[in-house]
Amino acid sequence: MTRYQKLQNELKESPKIWLVTGVAGFIGSNLLEHLLQLNQIVVGLDNFATGHKRNLDEVKSSTSAEKWQRFTFIEGDIRSLKDCQKACKGVDYVLHQAALGSVPRSIDDPITTDGTNIGGFLNMLVAARDAGVASFTYAASSSTYGDHTALPKVEENIGKPLSPYAVTKYVNELYADVFARTYGFNTIGLRYFNVFGKRQDPNGAYAAVIPKWTAAMIRGDDIFVNGDGETSRDFCFIENAIQANLLAATAGPSAKNEVYNVAVGDRTTLNDLFNALQSALSENGKPYAKPPVYREFRAGDVRHSQADIGKAAGKLGYAPEYRINEGIAKAMPWYIENVGRL
Ligand SMILES: NC(=O)c1ccc[n+]([C@@H]2O[C@H](COP(=O)([O-])OP(=O)(O)OC[C@H]3O[C@@H](n4cnc5c(N)ncnc54)[C@H](O)[C@@H]3O)[C@@H](O)[C@H]2O)c1
Repeated sequence: MTRYQKLQNELKESPKIWLVTGVAGFIGSNLLEHLLQLNQIVVGLDNFATGHKRNLDEVKSSTSAEKWQRFTFIEGDIRSLKDCQKACKGVDYVLHQAALGSVPRSIDDPITTDGTNIGGFLNMLVAARDAGVASFTYAASSSTYGDHTALPKVEENIGKPLSPYAVTKYVNELYADVFARTYGFNTIGLRYFNVFGKRQDPNGAYAAVIPKWTAAMIRGDDIFVNGDGETSRDFCFIENAIQANLLAATAGPSAKNEVYNVAVGDRTTLNDLFNALQSALSENGKPYAKPPVYREFRAGDVRHSQADIGKAAGKLGYAPEYRINEGIAKAMPWYIENVGRL
């Protein structure tokens, strides 16, 4: 039995109280769904900046009424210390996901991204520390590798940030480390690498590539590739990210005050991604025949990204269960069913 399987059995036997910030978003709502399936008690905090009530409604309809009763939603803002304090009260494990994602959004509006991702993060650290939570796990980002070109990415070797978003995620790590040194409050940062799966928003200027292209293909729209299509990423299916969060939240002291790559260890180019999505759609009876349209590279984008996941494997027992094609196969039916409604 893997550490993850064992952990899930233990949690079912002895439920804990979890706070998921950003619970109405993509990763947050998937964490909520998984935790409720494990009979956990969950508090969720969100201000719907980029998340949606429909995500919470969907989780509600996928769980029993009895399990849904274990969820308390607080509509609030992490930029308010009071809201963070309210949300942290009585909580065992914090999974801090709330932030404004997207490199281009941060380039368009660095001040708002900074306020949420740094000011809000600091509020959450203070509130969680003062509430005496058992653990604090937060969404860090592979963008922290910045202009460091070596592959695969190893946690201790980072470069200079390439966007305001990357600055904010790096500052999170710096604050987390200072909280360990100054207050003995030990956290775990999970550097996500392009997480994807159901409920990831395909709409708007700041959508991530997989949901954006999937929805465009289903709608029969053009697919735009930024650059030559040889830009590569380590795409990580949501179930792998959920696993990393649960393992991190319950990790022992020697695994704390650290950051971990959360990915698969694979590298997929945008051209390969285009082909993978096209085949998955064909398999679902929705062929897409248009060739991709190439355009300029996008400012702030890292050229290549691939994680070394050895540290998470060794210290957390992380063992991703889905590679990109398996994740796409799982997510595709959801997009086909829901794109018309989004
Ligand atoms: N999806 C990825 O590939 C990826 C990669 C690296 C890091 N991350 C990080 O993971 C976390 C979750 O990302 P996601 O993809 O689920 O994005 P998302 O936009 O779907 O979810 C973020 C949630 O945070 C909420 N939020 C934003 N500002 C808030 C505020 N001031 N107060 C309360 N709630 C607020 C939003 O309404 C939304 O529901 C973020 O911290 C993001 O930076 C994601």
